[in-house]
Amino acid sequence: MSATLSQVKEKLAKYGQEQVLKYYEELNPREQQELLDQIDATDMSILDACNHKEDLVKKGVITPLAAMQLPEIEANKAAFTATGLNAIRTGKVGAVLLAGGMGTRLGSDNPKGMYNVGVNRELYIFECLVNNLMDVVKQADAWIHLFVMTSDKNHEATVNFLKEHDFFGYNADYVHFFMQEMAAATDYNGKIYLEGKGRLSTSPNGNGGWFISMQRAGLLEVVEKEGIEWLNVFAVDNVLQRIADPCFVGATIEKNCVVGAKVVKKNAPDEKVGVMCLEDGRPSIVEYYELTEELMNAKDVNGDPAYYFGVILNYLFKVQELIRVVEKNLPLHIVEKKIPYLDENGELVKPEAPNGYKFESLVLDMIHQMDSCLPFEVVREKEFAPIKNKTGIDSVESARALLVKNGVEV
Ligand code: UTP
Repeated sequence: MSATLSQVKEKLAKYGQEQVLKYYEELNPREQQELLDQIDATDMSILDACNHKEDLVKKGVITPLAAMQLPEIEANKAAFTATGLNAIRTGKVGAVLLAGGMGTRLGSDNPKGMYNVGVNRELYIFECLVNNLMDVVKQADAWIHLFVMTSDKNHEATVNFLKEHDFFGYNADYVHFFMQEMAAATDYNGKIYLEGKGRLSTSPNGNGGWFISMQRAGLLEVVEKEGIEWLNVFAVDNVLQRIADPCFVGATIEKNCVVGAKVVKKNAPDEKVGVMCLEDGRPSIVEYYELTEELMNAKDVNGDPAYYFGVILNYLFKVQELIRVVEKNLPLHIVEKKIPYLDENGELVKPEAPNGYKFESLVLDMIHQMDSCLPFEVVREKEFAPIKNKTGIDSVESARALLVKNGVEV
């Protein structure tokens, strides 16, 4: 049912957001109704959190969680790989590409996956990921269901691009798209911006809602029908990403864990990656900005740094456990970002620097909802080439160099 102006005014008064109706009278009736419906559908209860941001990041007691390291993996590689391949061949493993982000740091108007990292030839980020997944499809001689999360901002462009490129050789019957939810974006006082006279500024609500969004899109029916028991979630921006890696899948299964997390040894104690740990005795990830000096320098029983394995956004979740926690809330993260907005004259501004807050939940917080987790070490130079920026650290340039190092023609 459509929202009425009086209902909407009541809601806006409750949350102190009346400014979003500034141009209401200038809109035609269709635009007016669209705005009312958007306001009606927007969760404004979360916005107040930006007034007590410090309460959101409180952590419990942090203790080390040992990772399975390279020598142990090497010694058991054949057995783990056999177990993983068996799971893949029997259809128990699916993959979930998180591609709903805005990639604001890279600064391209297109979805990040459409970025061409090639130099002498076209080589798109999506293409790199499909190529990596195809390695496993060939090894297992079985297709793997690939679920692709997009957002309202990039869905059409993503779907069209992949179709135009024939899914880079992937079997289209095994590709499923779904959209994540959006959240309002505000200025530093928690007031929602407008991105058009009849439209609130919105941004994707973080990568933590991927499973509930999959469920809302009806895709759990596919998961159930196909007998998928494990979902390997991964980020769009790591072009060396190994997806549905049989050895990783097998190790997680054999260790009886409900989650596996690929990790790399940190470059330096203060490297800006989240590290695996236990929090109040349960698996968790502590973000680099939450890592105190004491934790940074702590040693484990062998005298090695105790918090030394950084996550690379590649997790293998047991579906049964995801279903168990799907209704549980994840903590809210308030992130400063560049948010396009209408200025006092009603002109659209695309800011050069962060100008407000986005409200997100993160996949890494799902780890704390799980009873057990296997941090699984991988070789950074072989599996971690994230593209966050155009140049410098974690950039197109650094990723290109790593692709070449791994024998990929660019
Ligand atoms: P990032 O944290 O790098 O965010 O996402 P981003 O939005 O892509 O980039 P910046 O910060 O604006 O530059 C890590 C992964 O999570 C996905 C991204 O697409 C990427 O694969 N993601 C992020 C989502 O799927 N949805 C979101 O709402 C946010």
